[in-house]
Amino acid sequence: MTVIGIETSCDECAAAVVDDGRVIRSNVIASQVEAHRPFQGVVPEIASRKHVEAISGVVRKAVEDAGVGTGGLGAVAVTYRPGLIGSLLVGVSFAKGMALSLGLPLVGVDHVEAHLYAAQIGADIPFPYLGVLVSGGNTLITIVRDFFTHEVLGTTIDDACGEALDKIAKYYDLGYPGGVAIDRLSEQGSAEAYSFPRPSLRKGEHRYDVSYSGLKTAAVNQLDQFLNPGHRKSPENIAASFQKAAIDVLVDRVLLAAADTGIRRVVVGGGVAANRYFRRRLGSEASVEAVFPAMVLCTDNAAMIAGLGYHHLRAGRQSGLDLTASPRVAGFRRAYP
Ligand code: KG4
Repeated sequence: MTVIGIETSCDECAAAVVDDGRVIRSNVIASQVEAHRPFQGVVPEIASRKHVEAISGVVRKAVEDAGVGTGGLGAVAVTYRPGLIGSLLVGVSFAKGMALSLGLPLVGVDHVEAHLYAAQIGADIPFPYLGVLVSGGNTLITIVRDFFTHEVLGTTIDDACGEALDKIAKYYDLGYPGGVAIDRLSEQGSAEAYSFPRPSLRKGEHRYDVSYSGLKTAAVNQLDQFLNPGHRKSPENIAASFQKAAIDVLVDRVLLAAADTGIRRVVVGGGVAANRYFRRRLGSEASVEAVFPAMVLCTDNAAMIAGLGYHHLRAGRQSGLDLTASPRVAGFRRAYP
């Protein structure tokens, strides 16, 4: 079945056409980075307006690039949660109109579950595996038992990993988007320049949790205190040392979860999965087999929405025209959804 996916949960307006959940026919992403750059962060009102302006053209291009015409589409899948409510509503409303006018089934897809699905596109990864979602809004370590069953082992107790990278980049004016700027600058910096503190929760129900607010506060308020002798304060050194601290904390918990559960396969998703240090670091761990999605499928995209939407439909799940957007998912800390 050929499914068109629509994704507008944050600042990327995206549409993609995917066959049978695995083969990408088209993948269109209209980035809003330039609109948000002056503010060094996503401005929700601007994001929803830009989605309204872009969505018709993005969907039209995805259908054209796919070469199937609207007559070749079998269903419409759309991100309905979690995300910025105004942005989500643009995609959900458009998808409903499209499904109604073309007489196609509609299916709402969860953005977090879709990020955890992204690596399955073009691959066929056997279950179970540890699903690690690291993005601007979420940091989750889960056991993925099938496309729809995610058992949350660990999460962040405060900031998401990408959010921490973005905030440090903003504070030190390292560039926008922050995670991308830190990744780039780090290649010229020394990760040994600063010894930032590594929060250790590790106890009881927090065994696999991470925390970024202490690390972030240390890097903002006590930077000089963590500078090692023989190193100098520079944007490159701050970026490389902070990136290493943020990623190492996460990799440590992933390895712990793999050792405890005996599940060696680790499938990563989300914007921070594009981080080069993260890919090298987890990829070189002998105790796990790390699978990362293609770069273009790490950050927000609609191919993962169309892909997971196909599996929902195959399982007999379809949404009605009363589908609506939700900014948050209740209780995602210990159980997802
Ligand atoms: O998955 P995504 O596009 O949106 C969310 O669903 O949150 O992730 C965006 C996050 C941002 O925090 C961004 O700074 C981070 O992913 N990011 C990166 C890289 N590319 C994007 N972080 C580190 N290194 C990168 N190369």
